[in-house]
Amino acid sequence: MTAAASTETAKLSLNGQTIDLPVIIGTEKEKAFEIGKLRDQTGVITMDPGFGNTGSCVSSITFLDGERGVLRYRGIPIEQLAEQATSTETAHLLIYGELPNKRELEQFTQRVSERYALPDGMERFFDAFPKSAHPMAVLSAMITVLSSYYPQLLNPYPTREEMDEIILTLMAKIPTLAAVAYRRSRGLDVVAPRADLGYSANYLNMVFGGPGKKDPDPTIVQAFRQMLILHADHEQNCSTSTVRLVGSSRTNAFSSISSGVSALWGPLHGGANQAVIEMLESIQKGGGDSKKYIAMAKDKTSMFRLMGFGHRVYKNFDPRSRIIKKACDQVLAKLGVKDPLLDIAKQLEEAALKDEYFVTRKLYPNVDFYSGIILRAIGIPTNEFTVIFALGRLPGWLAHWKELVESGQRIGRPRQIYMGPTERPYRPLTQRG
Ligand code: ACO
Repeated sequence: MTAAASTETAKLSLNGQTIDLPVIIGTEKEKAFEIGKLRDQTGVITMDPGFGNTGSCVSSITFLDGERGVLRYRGIPIEQLAEQATSTETAHLLIYGELPNKRELEQFTQRVSERYALPDGMERFFDAFPKSAHPMAVLSAMITVLSSYYPQLLNPYPTREEMDEIILTLMAKIPTLAAVAYRRSRGLDVVAPRADLGYSANYLNMVFGGPGKKDPDPTIVQAFRQMLILHADHEQNCSTSTVRLVGSSRTNAFSSISSGVSALWGPLHGGANQAVIEMLESIQKGGGDSKKYIAMAKDKTSMFRLMGFGHRVYKNFDPRSRIIKKACDQVLAKLGVKDPLLDIAKQLEEAALKDEYFVTRKLYPNVDFYSGIILRAIGIPTNEFTVIFALGRLPGWLAHWKELVESGQRIGRPRQIYMGPTERPYRPLTQRG
């Protein structure tokens, strides 16, 4: 994919030499200086640890405006998708660029559901994990294991048909992997996937269902569906950038997605939903004093951060957290759940939003602040929260992996400025003091 060239150029002067940098402009008028030839022309590179000012690709999947709190998948506002779309429609939109028509949706749904089952013999791998294994470790490892059953899907340059098969296989089997891991880790029998249930309901049934159990409650399915949609993509976040970077070596989709799962696990990213609940629980255990935690978060000598607050790109509000906050209230009311952690969360939010430290740094509750409360209310154990985030993010990862492979972008390989010792000789062991 090529970016729209513009007639604008930026000028860079260095040591008496001036060079023109082409400016590229996106469809939403975002601008970037193109610096691909900078080192060849000047011998100088740019420095941007954390990539806050660095575009790594041109993408047509998701638009995000952190200042205005806008998030759109393929142009469609997240609010409309969360309200009206199914998670399968949203996945199709992200991966293939358009909402499916009725026939396409039926076909996509059927092609995913007929691939739900895991390959024969794969279940025994789950028994090898110790009880202490974190579900994200199991998920990441098992996606790699899954690749060993599909050597025909590891082509570094997949055909159109292979690409579709890879997408369908991963969309279908990753929720099953996650559910089997959950059941096996608790010594429970595996519940077979059901094609007659929707994508969300099938997952919930594989986790909580079984002989004699009712189908999942529609309120819970609805909340879960919304959770998947809200998490489905977020442009070049840490895990998606990981998927793209790993994918750029032309390894396969299985290892790229497995790497995305590993990146998501971190508490500064997807792991924050687990960390939020753990933080709220410790506030509760300590007698509900949220002030202490606010003080700790402000204390620069402590490494503590208020979990569920702040975002690299949203500096006014996170549009997803508005939707999820409303959903959270509705789910708790409908299920009749009274959760003291929600009261603590509300107190904490109120106190932080009035506090100068948080106000001046534009630190607002992010999507993870409330998603944990919903997941808790619907009975998902805390250490499984990030797995749900991964299931939600899966269509986004696949969309980015597909876009990357189709673009033919060259391998990702950042540079550095070396700050270590300059050349010095090797000293034999006998001469080292
Ligand atoms: N608590 C306390 N202080 C914070 C917090 C927080 N949660 N977040 C940022 N800050 C402070 C920083 O210390 C920094 O202060 P300074 O200017 O005095 O040095 C300032 O706010 C700016 O923060 P950055 O570090 O530049 O923010 P960055 O973009 O690097 O990090 C991040 C964003 C990782 C989300 C951060 O806000 C954070 O750690 N939040 C808590 C974890 C969390 O909720 N993660 C989920 C992110 S959303 C997602 O993945 C779905």
